[in-house]
Amino acid sequence: MIENRAKGPRKISVLFVCLGNICRSPMAEGIFRQQVQAAGLGPYIFIDSAGTADYHIGEGPDVRARYACASRGVDIDQVKGRQASPEDFYFFDYILAMDEHNLQHLKSIRPRDGYAHLSLFTAFGKGPYKGKSVPDPYSGGIEGFHQLLDILEDGAQGLLEKIRRDHAL
Ligand code: 4NP
Repeated sequence: MIENRAKGPRKISVLFVCLGNICRSPMAEGIFRQQVQAAGLGPYIFIDSAGTADYHIGEGPDVRARYACASRGVDIDQVKGRQASPEDFYFFDYILAMDEHNLQHLKSIRPRDGYAHLSLFTAFGKGPYKGKSVPDPYSGGIEGFHQLLDILEDGAQGLLEKIRRDHAL
């Protein structure tokens, strides 16, 4: 992550955060990256994900999340679980929480002078999940992961539109 940012001009940076960093946030990361690349904006936007908990540090995404993403042509196999930290608020321009619990946790670790924009991931979507928590699929079946795809695509599209407006991209 740091190495990526050390080279070349400064990128706009986006961090997706859920609880475990093995289901929702890696899926959001992969789906958003697909949209960013399709828009030709890959060179300008750095994308990462993290969990509020330390349960799955160093692990890859849940296999159900991988399968669901693969059904839309999105490969998230390379994501490695990590925990969100206060330093992230100095590094990222946008930090997007997948649910209200994640958002409250992030507010509790945010440094006073941290400058990242912090909001719910769904804040910029247009669909029925706009402004709502993304359901935690971990304890359910594979269908719960597939149901997330439309929610995540809608939220990611809205986020990309906001970033394009904010930065005249
Ligand atoms: P995520 O899902 O926050 O979307 O990655 C979960 C992953 C792991 C656990 C809970 C939710 N867990 O309790 O281990």
